[in-house]
Amino acid sequence: MTEKILIFDFGSQFTQLIGRRLRELNVYCEIVPFNKKGVLDESVKGVILSGSPFSVRDEKAPQIDLTDIKGKLPLLAVCYGAQYIAHSFGGEVNPSIAREYGRAILSINAPECPLFKGVKDRSQVWMSHGDTIADLPDGAEVIASTADVHNAAYRIEGEETYAVQFHPEVFHSEEGPKILENFVMNVCGCKGDWTPDSFIESTVQELRSKIGEERVILGLSGGVDSSVAAVLLNKAIGDKLTCIFVDNGLLRKCEYESVLDSYRHMGLNVIGVDASDKFLDALKGVTDPEKKRKAIGKVFIDVFDEESHKIENAKWLAQGTIYPDVIESVSVNGPSATIKSHHNVGGLPDYMKLKVVEPLRSLFKDEVRRVGRALGISNELISRHPFPGPGLGIRVLGEVSREKLEILREADHIFIGGLRESGLYDKVWQAATILLPVRSVGVMGDERTYEYTIALRAVTSTDGMTADWVHLPYEFLAKVSNDIINKVRGVNRVVYDISSKPPSTIEWE
Ligand code: XMP
Repeated sequence: MTEKILIFDFGSQFTQLIGRRLRELNVYCEIVPFNKKGVLDESVKGVILSGSPFSVRDEKAPQIDLTDIKGKLPLLAVCYGAQYIAHSFGGEVNPSIAREYGRAILSINAPECPLFKGVKDRSQVWMSHGDTIADLPDGAEVIASTADVHNAAYRIEGEETYAVQFHPEVFHSEEGPKILENFVMNVCGCKGDWTPDSFIESTVQELRSKIGEERVILGLSGGVDSSVAAVLLNKAIGDKLTCIFVDNGLLRKCEYESVLDSYRHMGLNVIGVDASDKFLDALKGVTDPEKKRKAIGKVFIDVFDEESHKIENAKWLAQGTIYPDVIESVSVNGPSATIKSHHNVGGLPDYMKLKVVEPLRSLFKDEVRRVGRALGISNELISRHPFPGPGLGIRVLGEVSREKLEILREADHIFIGGLRESGLYDKVWQAATILLPVRSVGVMGDERTYEYTIALRAVTSTDGMTADWVHLPYEFLAKVSNDIINKVRGVNRVVYDISSKPPSTIEWE
């Protein structure tokens, strides 16, 4: 059984970072809402309580029952967690008088404490809290302080309980990674042997015993997640996996053929379905971005359903769902508004009556990439930029037509090809070409033109939630602009999008 650390989430914006830091130590961990029951089992080697936007003094402050945890398992409480233990076990938490946001210097009072093994004294830590621990809980002693926060870290005697008021998980806490490492390795006794290879080995075994002799179908998108899921399943069950790759007519230039080809080279049992007419018919007259997404999503389901019914004995549907899609986030400010409906999250309708298998559901994106590399998938596929499910359908603004798609495809080919040739592709998180529904006047030779505008977009990001535009070299932009205007009929103007997200989004629709 894989050893694991459980992280109880009280809604802090940094909770996922705690998870990331542990994974970087090759320690498997899971983030669960603070009120989740039935999650403690033998594989749990330790528990972390996250921070929270709440004050422990709020009436609605999130509560956790620590009866089976505190004093029984190694426990590290961060920020709100530290205050929660103080508040619940005989200490006192009051509003802070001094400002306790941002950097502070941590003086270690108990250098022999296992949490501080090899941790430099007087390192910078990051604070972010409105309350302060005025009195420690019963049986606790201070193990570190800052100039403004006396009880910056404490431990409880006779237990493996540690609490820190600062955030060891954030980049600005210099010794944070070491403190977390000490907790999981020295206190919890984790081995840190959760590597891509060990993940592959255990997942392949699990998949074999789960699936047995039944057949699995999987929809490939050409992207990293579904490709890695397919190769992993193929390793586990070979020919019992059938992949379906649908041409929705909204892919990039030559993408359908080249991706299909590379899947076949990887030994996957893949069926290519050219359904572009169905998609383009469904998009006729549709201009609203959300309606376009829905139309594309619906046709995809129909096509996929039809194809999968041709596969006998198909009992499972495999999906490339990854961890950020499934973390049950604690809603602190109520359900967040839907800005864009991403149709590939949520999957297929119930009537397909297939059991779902999601071999990557515990992995973060870069871990999927590491697993993909360990499986021998080419770097070209692994490092591809994200591409939205509705494809160029949401990059032709307004109504989609074959003619406009053709223009966009050619322009996109020049931009993406240019990025690759000039070594810029891997420096960009995502690049896109957008066809604007605007015609403007130009002059070519002696002739007046009245043609479309292409917008180029290139962003850096880590997860697509926030993004900034990339400062591509002017010479590069000049060349791409020139190439597009000279080579793509129907375009006489190119602009570069210099908006960040927020307030803009990455895609224009
Ligand atoms: P936005 O435009 O919301 O995009 O800033 C964030 C990331 O999500 C991708 N995206 C989509 N992916 N279906 C998808 O599979 C969609 O409908 C969709 N809309 C946006 C976008 O390309 C970026 O990576």
